[in-house]
Amino acid sequence: MIKTENLTRDYGNNRGIFDLNMEIPKGKIFGFIGPNGAGKTTTIKLLCGLFKPSSGKAYIGDVEVRRRNQGKIKRMIGYMPDKTGVYDQMSVWEYLDFFCAAFKIPPKQRKSRIEGVLELADAKYMLDYQVNSLSQGMGKRVVLAKTLLHDPQVLILDEPASGLDPYARIEMRRTITRLREYGKTIMLSSHILPELSSVCDLAGIVEKGRLLAFGTIKEIITSLQENIILSITIQGETQKAADLCSNHDNIKEVTAQGNEIRAVYVGPRSEIAEINQLLVQNQVKVVGFREEEGDLEEAFLRVTRKNGQQTRESASQEKTQESEKKTASEKTSEEQSLVDKKPSENDNKKPENSTKPRLKLKNHSSSANKPAEDKMDAKKK
Ligand SMILES: Nc1ncnc2c1ncn2[C@@H]1O[C@H](COP(=O)(O)OP(=O)(O)OP(=O)(O)O)[C@@H](O)[C@H]1O
Ligand SMILES: [Mg+2]
Repeated sequence: MIKTENLTRDYGNNRGIFDLNMEIPKGKIFGFIGPNGAGKTTTIKLLCGLFKPSSGKAYIGDVEVRRRNQGKIKRMIGYMPDKTGVYDQMSVWEYLDFFCAAFKIPPKQRKSRIEGVLELADAKYMLDYQVNSLSQGMGKRVVLAKTLLHDPQVLILDEPASGLDPYARIEMRRTITRLREYGKTIMLSSHILPELSSVCDLAGIVEKGRLLAFGTIKEIITSLQENIILSITIQGETQKAADLCSNHDNIKEVTAQGNEIRAVYVGPRSEIAEINQLLVQNQVKVVGFREEEGDLEEAFLRVTRKNGQQTRESASQEKTQESEKKTASEKTSEEQSLVDKKPSENDNKKPENSTKPRLKLKNHSSSANKPAEDKMDAKKK
């Protein structure tokens, strides 16, 4: 559903993302993990068509992300930027109603649509709040609701949990998981690693513009794991078992506590069973034998540490060569998305797929009592 082919974007002498190749199937949650300056926002903006690639291609479904397809792309994607601003001096209702107009949602459908998205974002109670009275976390929810208004197939959320308290983070994860149930394909970025491991089907680790690992969280951890930690439960002679383990060539380190042994295994994965065999053959009663689950954070730190320096060096070489070729005309247009501009800025800018956006200052308290005219499209899925 989201695909990139050698996607590259540089900023003059500064490289944003290099030769990115990845594919995210429909209905999956993909976590894009990387430290500050890794290239997450750059990639996201390329996928949304807000930046033009220096080279390579990006696709949403079958549609290539390029200027002439911008209208289609806008309809397919719901983009939540990392810096989410909501406009003050209007209520949440008015804010969302404005975007309904921008997305050409017929007036009759707007009430139910707005209520539907606020419910999905756990923000229904904020309907009549003034947007300038919202906390950061509340504001994120309202912006997420806005992102859902046109019922996009693909959600691209840049740092959706940044600035949220631990409770709000949990809520945000629940919301994102719920959105997957509606069949959405979701890409979200974060540098807070444990946050993603529980919610993502797939993850990619990016560092200094390079994708260093891609796959399920488990695949990534396994592929990046240096050592395998075996956790062995023994009945009786723990010390004997610990000694047997320490004498094995593929065991680097052993700690024993109570009836538990923790052994650092450094051999091939295919030979792990030999350790169990060794213990059993020596009459040790093994009641538990398992591999401890790896830690994404640890894997992330290892891979970025290992590749960081190398990537930085090759990046600066490539940058010097390529920046010479770059002409001023290649400078790209940024932030074309009309829907993320203030209403006042939209007055002379008509989005490809919408009527001129009107800020309908509806008296919400009267409309709130009207029966819902239709169900939100997303809920039909
Ligand atoms: N408009 C710009 N002009 C020049 N360089 C830029 C611009 N935007 C980003 N960069 C550079 O591109 C690289 C990637 O930046 P990007 O914003 O994509 O990182 P990120 O992974 O989103 O980081 P963060 O976690 O801080 O949001 C950085 O080296 C950054 O300095
Ligand atoms: Mg960013």
